[in-house]
Amino acid sequence: AYVIAQPCADVKDKSCVDECPVDCIYEGGRALYIHPDECVDCGACEPVCPVEAIYFEDDVPGEWGDHRGSNAAFFAEI
Ligand code: SF4
Ligand code: F3S
Repeated sequence: AYVIAQPCADVKDKSCVDECPVDCIYEGGRALYIHPDECVDCGACEPVCPVEAIYFEDDVPGEWGDHRGSNAAFFAEI
């Protein structure tokens, strides 16, 4: 799945939401989150983010840490 990393925090541009064909991008308090089981890996969201926050899960820069953990925590709450 694709994931939204740290640069989205407090930016929340939301261009990505309009691109997603399966509506799997959800809004959280400070950032948006891609549902890991609903994402179909189409990649449509990735180029539209103005702050380059979106990456394929294996390509997230290491400095943004445990995105899988924060993603899982978010979806465990909703
Ligand atoms: Fe949606 Fe495609 Fe982005 Fe996954 S890769 S979140 S399916 S637009
Ligand atoms: Fe965030 Fe970029 Fe989407 S800033 S809301 S990931 S377009």
